[in-house]
This record gives sequence, structure tokens and C-alpha cells, in this order.
Amino acid sequence: MQDTIDNYDVIILGGGAAGLMCAATAAARGRRVLVLEKANKVGKKILMSGGGRCNFTNYTVEPENYISNNPHFCKSALSRYTQWDFIALVERYGIAYEERKHGQLFCLDSAKEILAMLLSECKEAGVEIKTRCSISAIKALNVETAAATKGKGLNYQLDIDGQSDSLYCQSLVVASGALSIPTLGGSGIGYDIARQFGLPVTACRAGLVPFMFSDFMKPICERLSGLALEVSVSCRGQAFTENLLFTHRGLSGPVVLQISNYWHPGDAININLLPELNAQQWLLAAKQQQGKSRLNTLLNKHLAKALVNELQALWWPQLAASPLAEFSDKHLQTIGQQLNNWCLKPSASEGYRTAEVTLGGVDTQSISSKTMEVKQQAGLYFVGEVLDVSGHLGGFNFQWAWSSGYSAGQFV
Ligand code: FDA
Repeated sequence: MQDTIDNYDVIILGGGAAGLMCAATAAARGRRVLVLEKANKVGKKILMSGGGRCNFTNYTVEPENYISNNPHFCKSALSRYTQWDFIALVERYGIAYEERKHGQLFCLDSAKEILAMLLSECKEAGVEIKTRCSISAIKALNVETAAATKGKGLNYQLDIDGQSDSLYCQSLVVASGALSIPTLGGSGIGYDIARQFGLPVTACRAGLVPFMFSDFMKPICERLSGLALEVSVSCRGQAFTENLLFTHRGLSGPVVLQISNYWHPGDAININLLPELNAQQWLLAAKQQQGKSRLNTLLNKHLAKALVNELQALWWPQLAASPLAEFSDKHLQTIGQQLNNWCLKPSASEGYRTAEVTLGGVDTQSISSKTMEVKQQAGLYFVGEVLDVSGHLGGFNFQWAWSSGYSAGQFV
């Protein structure tokens, strides 16, 4: 081993939300920190997030907003670095923001401001950042090799593609994110590193992702593409009320992204098109009071005409021109039941290509919830989305990145 080895206190793999937060926090404690990023620039997902305005946190952040095999794991980090801490940082930088529905906080101008803020925090604290940097091997140093590093307590050796000298560090933080959107840096390297060190990785699947259809719904979605309406959607005992959007490929919109976190391939979803109404009672009463009206005229008061036309073709095509009085009570009850509980079976989700998050990941049982360090592997940390912690839509995923990154940053 050479005498003047290139060594750091902390090396962070991945310059995304969690990695940059961890880097700034650790460097502010006086640690010598290097961030290695494989892409040509850091923070690509931050820039793309929230339609370019970054939904950076939420006024109400609860453990219930997260999905994990161990629902308690996120609690410690979320209380160590809260949404209020991040809001205070945003305010310190004078970044203008607004509250949208459900306490979601977005930049008023641009997500670029959040990335610039993190980079400024990193720069001020002296963090080094190397982009276009790919790891080819990671080795944990045994006691003798560590001794050969002249008592610097180095734990890890990293080989970088195309670079003859290795890098060494005491603490290695894996902040490489997960599989969603490969073009924005999504990668499975964090899982490979976990497996290298014998850590279990739970089954992964795409989350916060639109649905596709291959049955009768496919042409309906194509024809209704662009139409949005507020509905409730439920699956596996979870329900959300928000906007649904028909697209050329299927169903999207916030309510669909939310429920996709609970959906498994083969599951049906139930859509309540009239969440404010008991549709059966309403239709039966309308038959009594407005028997001469047509059903589509009645429904057009609550639902877009194009959608009502599609429903009519599905549920009462023979009575399209008939007044309500000619519908049997049973038929109206069935239609009402379907309006409140339209059962559809997506053929698939759009997958990692468009998913905002990856569900599952490095099993949290192996990780300290206080420090994010691997319990059986000193100096190895995992933060952010690579862990089996995924948030609902609404700023919760970034809050997890900030909170877990900060927590590790305090201990590396
Ligand atoms: P992140 O993916 O941010 O960073 C990982 C970094 O590691 C990347 O820069 C990647 O290039 C790098 N990397 C990967 N492999 C590597 C390797 N081998 N070597 C070195 N570096 C490597 N959340 C939210 O709360 N509000 C929102 O508005 C949105 N909006 C949104 C939009 C879109 C389009 C997406 C895809 C996602 C969101 N999200 C979101 C989710 C949010 O972006 C996500 O949860 C966080 O970015 C996760 O932060 P991490 O730092 O863990 O991973």
C-alpha cells in the first residue's frame, strides 16, 4: 500500500437527495467527505421532481406515511431531522415555497433552488464531489490491512473504473437510490453492495406508478386520455381520494400513484366515481322524482360527458335513449353499485421506467434506525431510497432522504 493513500473519513456513493444531505451534515462536523456520483451531475431526481418545483416535504409527516416491512424503522430518523428542520433550511436560503393540497410543500420557482441549497451547504462544509465516477469494487479492510493504513482506522477500499489508485475511507455511505427511472440514475448497485456484505434485500417493485390495461379499458383510457376527476380508489384495505387521470396508456394521477404503492400484480382496484354520493339511493330517488330524465343527463351533473358516454356503453347500452322511469330498480341499483365501486384489473404498472419510487430494498432489520449503520458491519451505512422505506406521494420520499441522510451524517 502506498504511503500517501487517498483517504477520506467518509465516502458517499450517490449524489442524490440523501447523499448530499448526509455529505453536508458530516462535513459540517469536520469530517473529510467525498461524494462519488456515477452520472454527469448530481441531484437529477431533485431537478425533475414535482414537475420541476420539487415537493420537498409535507407539513404533516407521520410514520404511517411510509411503507416498510418494519413500519417502526423510520421513526427515529424522522424525529431526529423533521420537516420543520428542512423548512427552516429552505427559509434560511430565502427559497419561496407554497403549500398545495394535503400539506404538500413545493418551491414557487424551481427545484433548482433546492439542489443549489444542498450544493451550497456541501461547498461551505468542504465536501468534495466527483461525478462520472463508477465503482468497480468495494473491499472491507481486515485488521492487518487497516493497520497498514498507519492507524487511520480505514475500513473500506474502493476501486473506481479507469483509475489506478484506490480510495480509502472509514465510513462508507450507500446513497445510490433504487431502481426507478434508470435514465435519472436508478440503479441496483446498493442492493449488490448489501448482498456483498450478507445483508438481506426485500422483494422490490415499482411504486408511485401509473397503471396499464390490456382489456376493454385500454381503448376507453385512450379515448378519455387527458380527462381528470376526483375519485376514491381502494386496494388491499387502503383508500385514497384525489385526482385520477386517464392517459393513452391507462390510469394515472395522484390517486393512482398513491394506491399503486399497495397494488400487487393480479390485484383489482376499486374506483368510487362519486365519493360524495350513495349512488344507489340517489338513482332510485331520481327515478321517483325525475322519471322523465335520461340517466346520462343526470350523471352529467357530476361526471364529464365523455366518461358518462363510456359508462353508458358499458352498463346501460339498450336503455341509452330511455327515461329513468323505464329502468328497473334492480338495474339502477347495479349501476349505482358500479358507480361507487367500479372494479378494474390493471394488466401491469408502467414499471421502473416511470415509477417515482422503488418499494422494498435493503432490509432494515440489519440497520440501526438511529445511525443507519449496518449492525454487523462497522462503518457501512445505507440511507435514502435504497432502504426498504418508501413514502406516500406528497413530499414524504424526500423527507425520508433528508432525515436518513442527516441521521447517518451525524455518526459517520
Ligand atoms: P436518488 O435517486 O435521489 O440519488 C441516488 C444517486 O445515486 C443518483 O444521483 C444516482 O445517479 C447515483 N448512483 C446510482 N448508482 C450509482 C453508482 N453505481 N455509483 C455512484 N452513484 C450512483 N419525492 C418527493 O418527496 N417529492 C417529489 O416531488 C418527488 N418527485 C419525483 C419525481 C420523479 C420523476 C421521480 C423519479 C421521483 C420523485 N420523488 C419525489 C422521489 C424522490 O426523488 C426519491 O425518493 C429521492 O430522490 C431518493 O433519494 P436518494 O438520494 O435515496 O436517491
